[in-house]
Amino acid sequence: MKIKIRNEEPKDYRRVEEIAREAFWNLYFPGGHEHYVVHKMRSHPDFIKELAFIIEADDEIVGGIFYTNSKIVSEDNKEFKTISFGPVFISPEFHRKGLGKELVTHSIQVAKEMGYRAILTLGYPYHYEPYGFLGGRKYNVSMSDGKFYKGLLVLPLYEGALDGIFGYAYFSDVFDVKEEEVDKFDKSFPSKEKKYQKSQDEYEIAVSMLDE
Ligand SMILES: CC(C)(COP(=O)(O)OP(=O)(O)OC[C@H]1O[C@@H](n2cnc3c(N)ncnc32)[C@H](O)[C@@H]1OP(=O)(O)O)[C@@H](O)C(=O)NCCC(=O)NCCS
Repeated sequence: MKIKIRNEEPKDYRRVEEIAREAFWNLYFPGGHEHYVVHKMRSHPDFIKELAFIIEADDEIVGGIFYTNSKIVSEDNKEFKTISFGPVFISPEFHRKGLGKELVTHSIQVAKEMGYRAILTLGYPYHYEPYGFLGGRKYNVSMSDGKFYKGLLVLPLYEGALDGIFGYAYFSDVFDVKEEEVDKFDKSFPSKEKKYQKSQDEYEIAVSMLDE
C-alpha cells in the first residue's frame, strides 16, 4: 500500500466529508455530526489550515485530521493558546493498519515545527496515550466545570511547555452544532439510518469517567 499524507485541498472536501460520515455514523450516538463539523470548520476563525491533513492509500483518500485553536484559561483569567485535533478518522475498511497513527504522528510533528505549545484533545485514552498524551489531571488542566475527565488528553509540544500553566480547557465553538443544521447538511448525502449500536454504550460511560 502506497501511503501519502498531504494538506487538504478544496477538491478533497466532499470525499473527506463522506469518509468522516462513514467513520462516525452511529459510532458514538445514533447518526453523526463530524462530517458537518469538518464542513463548517474550514471557514471558521479557529481553523488551522496548515494542520488539516488527509491521508491517501494507493492514491485514494482514506482519512483526515483537523485542528482548531483552543486554550487553557487560568484561575486568574490568563489565556494560554493551545491547539486541538478532532475529528480524526480513517475509512472503516482501513482501520488498524497504522494509517491513523501516521496522520496523528505527522500532524504532531508539524505542530511542533510551527511552535505551538500543546495539544488538548478529547477521546479515548487508548487512542492517544501511545503518542504521549496524558490525562489532564497530570498537568492540572480540567474541563470548564473544574472536573478532571479521563477523556481530556494533553500533550506538551516542547520541554517545559506547560510548566506553571494550569486551568480550564476551552475548545472552539465550531463543535457546538445544532441537530437541525446537521440534519439539513446530511440530506445532501445518500440516506443512512440512525440507529443504536453497542459502541454508543462504551462512549456513554467513557464521557463521564473521572480521572481519580
Ligand atoms: C481512531 C482511528 C482514527 C484510528 O485509526 P486507525 O488507522 O484504525 O488506527 P491505527 O491502526 O493507526 O492504530 C494506532 C494505535 O492506536 C490504538 N488504537 C487504534 N484503534 C484502536 C481501537 N479500536 N482499540 C484500541 N486501540 C486502538 C492502538 O494502540 C493502535 O496500535 P496497534 O494497532 O498497533 O495496537 C479510527 O479507528 C477511526 O477512524 N475511528 C472512527 C472515528 C473516531 O473514533 N475517531 C477518533 C475520535 S475523533
